[in-house]
Amino acid sequence: MKTQAVRIHRHGGPEVIQLDEIDLPEPAAGHVRIRNTCIGVNYADIYEREGDHGGPHSAKDLPITMGHMAVGVVDAVGKDVTSHTIGARVGYIGPNSYATLTNMPAARLFSLPDAVTDDVAGGYLLRGLTAEYLLRRLYRVGPGTTALVHAAAGGMGLILGEWGRLLGARMIGTVSSEAKAEVARAHGYDAIINYSSEDFVARTLQETDGKGADVIYDGVGKMAFLKSLDCVRPRGLVVSYGTASGNVGEFDLQRLHSKSIIVTRPTLRSWIAEPDEAAAASKALFDVLSGGQIQTPLGARFPLAKAAEAHRQLESRSVTAPIVLIP
Ligand SMILES: NC(=O)c1ccc[n+]([C@@H]2O[C@H](COP(=O)([O-])OP(=O)(O)OC[C@H]3O[C@@H](n4cnc5c(N)ncnc54)[C@H](OP(=O)(O)O)[C@@H]3O)[C@@H](O)[C@H]2O)c1
Repeated sequence: MKTQAVRIHRHGGPEVIQLDEIDLPEPAAGHVRIRNTCIGVNYADIYEREGDHGGPHSAKDLPITMGHMAVGVVDAVGKDVTSHTIGARVGYIGPNSYATLTNMPAARLFSLPDAVTDDVAGGYLLRGLTAEYLLRRLYRVGPGTTALVHAAAGGMGLILGEWGRLLGARMIGTVSSEAKAEVARAHGYDAIINYSSEDFVARTLQETDGKGADVIYDGVGKMAFLKSLDCVRPRGLVVSYGTASGNVGEFDLQRLHSKSIIVTRPTLRSWIAEPDEAAAASKALFDVLSGGQIQTPLGARFPLAKAAEAHRQLESRSVTAPIVLIP
């Protein structure tokens, strides 16, 4: 069967992205074919396009059908699939999602509750599962926790703010502009630091009576990581979960010594690797999304042919809600 697929034939900027028509094999045993209805655009896609990030985003063989997640409808089932039937609404975290049709192992699908729309799941499935492990398992935030989140008005920042507040934590966010400060204030943050005009280290210490934040969620990387070590509390945790401003690179381990700081560099895929973990994580996410307990603002929608434009927008630092592709 033919599918439209957004592919790269070489690594580089958004200009290397193109729309191709390719053959998709019938789903193998244990797999299903999904007709994608809403495809999330995430920083992982930018790392995939650039090809030089290493770790879980190490370069794969070219050409690559891009993408890391989508939601859609089961369109065909391979042999031995009993868990899903044609027409079921599903979401997935997996490769080759920038396409009209994608084959995925049935065991890796999340069944979408009726109360979670395709648009919300498209924007928040990957980010929401990430927020779930960051806030509930890697560190358990709750009443008494002060968390600092960098890029608080970005896609990840919004759901971390909303869910962190729901869990009872005190949320402090950094942003690069006053307009973004307004957005973050409306999404769970008790205090906002504009790090373009203010020193976020001094202000975080001031907000925490000189102690420092219990946990710092850093999706910015190069620009924010080392300074974060200066405003985490003794024995606190700095989570380097993303690198929107560039990789952190090497740093001196001695920087952690005087405060016994804990640092981690996690990836979602390790935190939903086991089927029971993935099921529990998605249940927790769908519960908060379905119950209307958190707000989930939606950003721009682009057709597959405009995927390069979607990347430009995400990289432009102007985005304050998740961007999606609609095949
Ligand atoms: N490890 C995981 O499991 C995992 C899973 C999902 C996402 N992530 C990470 O989460 C982070 C956020 O992802 P997102 O898709 O929701 O993006 P986003 O937060 O909407 O966009 C990135 C934000 O980073 C800030 N930033 C600072 N310096 C920047 C620079 N030089 N260029 C671009 N942005 C810069 C900007 O906010 P300000 O202008 O306010 O600074 C920008 O809005 C990414 O780093 C991504 O890799 C990690």
